[in-house]
Amino acid sequence: MALTRTLPFHDSGQLDAASPASSGLLTEVCQGLSKQQKELPSRLLYDELGSALFEAITLLPEYGLTRADERLLRTHAEAVIGQLPGPLLVTELGSGTGKKTRPILEALQRRQPVRYFPIDISTSALRRCRQELEEVTAAGPQRIHIVGLETDYLNGLREVARQRHAEERLLVLFLGSTIGNFDRPAALAFLRELRGALRQGDALLLGADLEKPEALLLSAYDDALGVTAAFNLNVLGHANRVLGANFDLSAFRHQARYDRRQRRIEMHVLSLREQGVTIAKNGFSCHLRRGETIWTEASHKFNPEELNAWARHSGFLPRRQWVDQEWPFAENLWLAD
Ligand code: AVJ
Repeated sequence: MALTRTLPFHDSGQLDAASPASSGLLTEVCQGLSKQQKELPSRLLYDELGSALFEAITLLPEYGLTRADERLLRTHAEAVIGQLPGPLLVTELGSGTGKKTRPILEALQRRQPVRYFPIDISTSALRRCRQELEEVTAAGPQRIHIVGLETDYLNGLREVARQRHAEERLLVLFLGSTIGNFDRPAALAFLRELRGALRQGDALLLGADLEKPEALLLSAYDDALGVTAAFNLNVLGHANRVLGANFDLSAFRHQARYDRRQRRIEMHVLSLREQGVTIAKNGFSCHLRRGETIWTEASHKFNPEELNAWARHSGFLPRRQWVDQEWPFAENLWLAD
């Protein structure tokens, strides 16, 4: 697989501009800005600055999502591992910092030497993940073997499936409600493809944020400190830096809306005046009316039954579901049928 680079974690890592993940970005940006409802790809949220802002978001009092995810994983890691006897190979789609994953790896480490393959399109995320988990290795009874794959989720997963030992069962972690960034049909299609890369008996642990009162969601995505606003506006700054766009960040403001029909939070950046934007890299230009928005992210919210139905529709059996009582969020353990 030419696009999959197995990362030695010690490289200096300024590959962003040349990485396969960024090819096609320019095309995608120009297509998005040419739509009736303008949009920018959500992955523009996550450059180094955006990733740091996201980590700050996870500490906000209004944003309970990550804490709920972490609480559930801490509380139920043993139960998750206990459901999956025999040798296990753990892989994670979107490694993040590795903080959430730690209890799972620690629980497994009490049983067997751990092999953990995080998959992420970001070099810096993989590097930080390794650093975070080095401590587990140091403290734990057995070594943790970490192999970072810098590629997209499905190609990464297929590569992991190729590298598994014959007797190993795969546990795929897809945490943090990243699934919510797909619209519903795309999420189901993605889960089917994911299932296609697995063997019967392999497992998926899927973290999904649940529906909750609209006011709670709106403040989670439009916090009082303005961290989410900065996170969102950084999409424009990121486009300026990597594509030579000329977005004037002071002429936009952050907007979070809840779409009741789609059951999702949308983030937009709203143009405060009529303005033009050009992209130096290819000469593209477009206009924005005052009050017009560019859509930057969708975060779908689920109900527990819908998730169980999705399991069956994508070739899994829903095995266990754990729901946090403080911030409705579900950890779903599915077995490939
Ligand atoms: C990491 C994609 C799950 O959708 O809630 C946080 C990102 N966006 N605040 C989410 C995010 C705005 C987050 N995900």
